[in-house]
Amino acid sequence: MAKILKTKEICTNIWEFIIEAPLIASKAQAGQFLILRLHERGERIPLTLADWDPEAGTVTLVVQAVGKSTREMVERFGEGDEIRDVVGPLGLPSEIKRYGTVVCVGGGVGIAPIYPIARALKAAGNGVVTIAGARRRDLLFWLDKLDAVSDELIVTTDDGSFGRKGLVTEPLRELLEAGRVDKIWAIGPAVMMKFCSLTASEFDVPIVVSLNPIMIDGTGMCGVCRVEVAGETKFACVDGPEFEGDKVNWDLFLARLAMYRDLEEKALEAYRATTEERL
Ligand SMILES: Cc1cc2nc3c(=O)[nH]c(=O)nc-3n(C[C@H](O)[C@H](O)[C@H](O)COP(=O)(O)OP(=O)(O)OC[C@H]3O[C@@H](n4cnc5c(N)ncnc54)[C@H](O)[C@@H]3O)c2cc1C
Ligand code: FES
Repeated sequence: MAKILKTKEICTNIWEFIIEAPLIASKAQAGQFLILRLHERGERIPLTLADWDPEAGTVTLVVQAVGKSTREMVERFGEGDEIRDVVGPLGLPSEIKRYGTVVCVGGGVGIAPIYPIARALKAAGNGVVTIAGARRRDLLFWLDKLDAVSDELIVTTDDGSFGRKGLVTEPLRELLEAGRVDKIWAIGPAVMMKFCSLTASEFDVPIVVSLNPIMIDGTGMCGVCRVEVAGETKFACVDGPEFEGDKVNWDLFLARLAMYRDLEEKALEAYRATTEERL
């Protein structure tokens, strides 16, 4: 059981949860995640460790409500409620060392997982340029936190409602053209990570992405999270979730992400029906 201490909608459809998880908080490292199950019959939801406080024994999760389980979490679980089980930290931590100038790109809900990585890279002595992007102004969050751990923060929105108008790849390309970049981290929608990787490859600059395939056990046993990297099969939960972006088979990754869309839609419809019954 893990108690929810605080929950808040931080932008449209994205919630921050602070939960009591002292053992996870004492071991957490940038790049890792946990898997939780809301109740006895709940499915397992992988979520990145977006922040943690070992002294308080808490971890911070940022959840975008996209389907049945995440919607249930934000709609039916609040302060004081208990989450049935929480497992973590899972996955390999980010390889934090002194690279020089690192560009950290966070897109959409990917802004949350990029934050602890940017913080750790800054603490390791790197120059950190962070690019945070979203479709619209109301989908941006944690800009103050990102600003505090970055030497430079560039914000983009697709519609120009805040910061620069355009995609995150545009400032990324400009920084690469200026020869200012030694390493890149990019976390966000799969398509964004794919195009950041293609851009980085043009300039021969190494890029790390964090893959978010469907997961079940999170410990390397079920095989559902398999991805192809440099022509080899890897399990994102134990070999990742971070991989070299230029070596990922993106077509396969995108196809596997969409594999259960029909079932996901049915599960959401069934959940909505139970919500209507409650009203
Ligand atoms: C290592 C890892 C870390 C993650 N960290 C976060 C995080 O910090 N915050 C957050 O909001 N989400 C995160 N995710 C994604 C999150 O786990 C899924 O959005 C969630 O499990 C979807 O469950 P659902 O039942 O609500 O939606 P579903 O009904 O399962 O899916 C609804 C929609 O979301 C898409 N989807 C399903 N699973 C994923 C996925 N793994 N990644 C992206 N899209 C997916 C589906 O294709 C579908 O369109 C992470 C995933 C992984 C593997
Ligand atoms: S989630 Fe089962 S092997 Fe990775």
